[in-house]
Order: sequence, then C-alpha cells, then structure tokens
Amino acid sequence: MAFPESFIQDLKMRNSITDVVSSYVSLKRRGRNMIGLCPFHGEKTPSFNIYTEDEHFYCFGCGAGGDVITFIMKIENLDYTDAVKFLAQRAGMDIPENSYDNSMSRLRTRVLEANREAARYYYKTLISPAGREGLDYFHSRMLSDRTIRHFGLGFADDDWSSLTNHLKSLGFSENELVSANLAVRRRSGNGVFDRFTNRVMFPIIDLRGNVIAFGGRIMTDQKPKYLNTSDTPVFKKSANLFSLNNAKNAGTRTLLLCEGYMDVIAVNQAGFANAVATLGTALTAEQATLIKRYADEVVICYDADEAGQKATARAIPILRGAGLLVRVLSIPNGKDPDEYIKSQGADGPEAFRAIIEKSGNDVDYRLQKLRADYNLQTSDGRVGYLEAASRLVAGISSAIEQDVYASKLCREFGLDKSAFMAQVEKHGKKLSREQYKKQQRKIQTDLSGRGDRLDPDRAKKPRSSSAEEALLAHLLSHPDSADYIKSRVQPEQFQNTLMRRYYSYFLQRTEQGLDPMTNVSADFTDDERNKIYKIISKYSGVASTKRALDEYINVIHEESERPDRGDISKMTPEQLNERLERIRKAKK
Ligand code: CTP
Ligand code: MN
Repeated sequence: MAFPESFIQDLKMRNSITDVVSSYVSLKRRGRNMIGLCPFHGEKTPSFNIYTEDEHFYCFGCGAGGDVITFIMKIENLDYTDAVKFLAQRAGMDIPENSYDNSMSRLRTRVLEANREAARYYYKTLISPAGREGLDYFHSRMLSDRTIRHFGLGFADDDWSSLTNHLKSLGFSENELVSANLAVRRRSGNGVFDRFTNRVMFPIIDLRGNVIAFGGRIMTDQKPKYLNTSDTPVFKKSANLFSLNNAKNAGTRTLLLCEGYMDVIAVNQAGFANAVATLGTALTAEQATLIKRYADEVVICYDADEAGQKATARAIPILRGAGLLVRVLSIPNGKDPDEYIKSQGADGPEAFRAIIEKSGNDVDYRLQKLRADYNLQTSDGRVGYLEAASRLVAGISSAIEQDVYASKLCREFGLDKSAFMAQVEKHGKKLSREQYKKQQRKIQTDLSGRGDRLDPDRAKKPRSSSAEEALLAHLLSHPDSADYIKSRVQPEQFQNTLMRRYYSYFLQRTEQGLDPMTNVSADFTDDERNKIYKIISKYSGVASTKRALDEYINVIHEESERPDRGDISKMTPEQLNERLERIRKAKK
C-alpha cells in the first residue's frame, strides 16, 4: 500500500467527510445523515447521501460511492496518491517519508512514462522520412508545422513492431505496454505487437500535462476511421476531454465543445484555444462536471448533419444539469467547424468568430427546431407550436428564464401571458412527477441488481445475495462481531462470487488486525468500490441487531445447503415444479 494505514486513518479522522464535501456541495441534514445534489451527475432531486457514522458517501442516482479520499479523487480528478496529499495538506499533516508506492500506482507511473515516450516517438517519426505520408496528410488538411508541434501530433508507421521495439529498448516491459494499450498481446500468448499502425496520431493530454491516451486516424477512407486507446489504469474515455489542457488556459470561461480532434485543432489554429472534444463517445455527465470547473458557458459546435443535431439535443440537458449556460452554434451549409473555417480561406478566423457571436442559447435553438415542425400560417399549427413550446418552457429550471421566454412568445403571437403560464405550470407539475418516478424506477432496478455486469449473480440468486450483502454490511459496521461471524460462516458458503470475494478480503483484513475499509480505494476497481459503498448504504440503519445477524446467517446456511442450487437444466420436471412452488411461496 502507498501509505501506512495509521496515517490514512489519521488523515480520515482529520478530514471529516461532511466538512470536506460541504465545501463542494450544499448539504442538508436528514436524520443521522446528510443529503445534497450529487456533484457527479446532473440531478434536481437530491440522491447524494453522506453517512456521517461511518464516514462515507453514496449516490443512489449514479451509483458513485466511497470515502473522503474517493470523493476528492473524483471531484478534483486526482489519483489516489495525489488525493491523499491534497487532504494531508488541507489538514496540515506531513506525509510520512517512508511511504512507498503500491504496485498499482507504480504501474500507473510506468504507463504514463511509456505514453510520453510513445508520443515522442510518433512525433519524431512524423518529421522523419518514414513519416512523409503522415506529414503530407496533415498538410493536406491545412495544418501548419506550428500547430502540429503544438499538439504533438505524430505518425505510427506500418511496421507492427516499431514502437514496441523502441519502448522495449528503453526498458519497458511487455506487460507495461499492454497495460498502456500501446501494444496488444498475440493470441498465441507469445509476444506483443503495436496497437497503432499506419495512422496519424493525436496524443490526449490531461490537466497535469501527462500523455494519457492516443487517437489514431487512418489516412484513407478505410474503417475504423479513428482508433482510440481503450480504458487503461490512467485513462477513462468518459471522464476526459481532448485539449482541455489548452482550453483551461485560454483565458475565458466559455468553452467550445466540438465533435472531433480535427475540429478542435482547426479551431485552435484559427486562434481559439478554448475548444475541447469528447473522445469518440457521447458527452457524459462526468465530462460536463469537469467542464464546469473551468467554464460557465459552453458553445456546442457539433456538425450540422443529423448525427450532430441529435448529439446536440442529447448534450444540452447534460450541460445544463452541470449548471452550465449553453449556446448552440449553427454552421452555414451543413459543415463542421474544420470545413467551415477552411472554406472561408484567409477570413476563416473572423468568419468563425462571427458565427460564434451569433449563436443563440439552447432554448432559442430548441424553440427554433420545434418551430420547423409546425405550419404557423394555420391556427392549428400555431396552437400546436405554442402548446409544445409551453412544455419546453416548463422544462427550464430558472423561473426568470421561464419568464423571459414566455414573454417573448406571447408578444410574438399576441397571447395572454397568464394563460400561457398556466399551461407552463401544468406541464411543470407533470414533468417533476415523471422525473421523480423515473428516478425511483432507476433506484429500484439498481437495488434489484438487474442488468448488473459487475455482479451478475445478484439477479440469479437474489435470496442468498441479499443475505450475503446484509452480512457484509453488518461486518463492516460492527467490526467487533468479526470473530463471531467468522466462526459461523465460511467464504465457501457464499453463493455470490463477488460477495464471496469481498467477504474473504474483509475477513483477511480483520484477521490481520487491520481496519477492513481503510484500503478499499487502492485494492478494488472503481466499480467494485462503488458497489461496496452501495451495500453499506443500503443497509445503513437497517436491523443491525444480533437477531438480524443470525437471520442472515441462517439464510446463508440454507442457501448453501440447497441440493438443487444452480443448474436447472439438469432438473427433472418434478424438481423444477417443486422449486417453482417454493419460490412462489417465498414471494408471498
Ligand atoms: N470517432 C471515433 N471513432 C470513429 C469515428 C469517430 O472515435 N470510428 C470520434 C473521433 O474522436 C472523431 C469524432 O468522433 O474526432 C468525430 O468523428 P467524425 O466527425 O467522423 O471525424 P472528424 O473529427 O470530422 O475527422 P475528419 O475530419 O478527419 O473526418
Ligand atoms: Mn471533419
């Protein structure tokens, strides 16, 4: 582990989760716990809970959970070590000198080093004779040598081992290259080959200047057009943005959100450093939250084609949900920003500035899209439009903004404002009812574990899974009962694979006299950690008596002793019937 356990415990004690979180989220007391709007996804009804007794958080809306260190990792976008340093500084604590890195953070460092060397290598290749084809390609797309250098663009040649050999000669192991997704293991298991060949390369750089991933574009119209680094120990597509490192220093709180690498680069070259793009996926709430840290306003600059318009419609509520103002760029003649700037020749930068300044906000944009669906020459068309517009206005969360649009529409159509507002209010009530129901449904599905890839056993074995979860929750909130629990339940008796793994882990920690939870963030993946906190949250305050505990233990015994456990395909019809009958009875 990275730091001595006693240090981490002390750190957590001096950084109470309520204190730390309340400097980011406004919290209200609810019973013994605190509740607020989740900073990790957009929501209007609070589902972000702070459990003050055991110092953790869990959001029933998006499933994020953890301790105070996890919270800082997520909200400040730091890795484990840096989050610990951040909290130590906050509490005025010294970092123990002999803290050594754990293997995961060592691997992360190696992956970052490999990426940096790879970016260097791709750039060198690009400007060498071997990179001719790539350099010609970038030049044909009107990129200057200065832009190429600024973005550190590169070229992966068509030899399947050149990067791998180069990095091996620098001392990187095959395992490190595979972890970085710079190389792929051969199917035979012997040796590795380069992930990227014959592509121009775009390095993705994080806010601290680390090369965390690459995008590679093929120079012909073969597919796939872009190949991107898969998620690695240092990279998560859905949580990063291309060129945010440049945009955050652009000196403005307005960001231009583009669809792709080439748009961002062309827009930069035209003099706008404040452009970013997602990395081959639709915009996520996590990315919107990240943007909100550096911007107050986003201008969506997606392609004018249908796909771009659909993506715009999806991005608006996500950005709004993160508290950002939104404008939508409309690019003349169905082009993307890159093509548009180029089509204007030397006037590109000025022309682009002009259309940005002209871009309307998201509500204008949506009203205008809506308008196109109605024939305003007819009374029916006007009624239809105003009806739909009142629904749209109802979805705006700010009352002031609602009023502005209502006035504008009423003026234009010579309508009585109170009649329009009455309609808005009606839709508003319905919307919040629907939203509430949707949220409840999501929580239900989540709790039932349907469609849970991390824990597929949850849906298949609900009874044993519930008992096992409850037992784990009890163990974690009553460490003093560990001996008793251990004497009654063996890990092998757990039917749910994931729960069994947690149980073994926590038992082992308690046997070693360690606090079971201290190292969870370092020893489990994000999803696994979220799941543990979800379980604790779910059972927080629920029947934690000895009697309840014995009840869970009984169920675990019963379930582990069932002869027909599992394979229904091997049952006789009678066995199957009997089993169904039992399930039916159990449900009653
Ligand atoms: N993308 C991807 N994988 C693909 C296609 C697209 O990851 N197979 C991502 C890339 O990040 C790309 C963005 O989606 O930059 C937008 O795609 P597209 O509009 O097709 O590409 P452009 O950025 O316009 O690239 P170009 O101008 O070179 O065609
Ligand atoms: Mn393009």
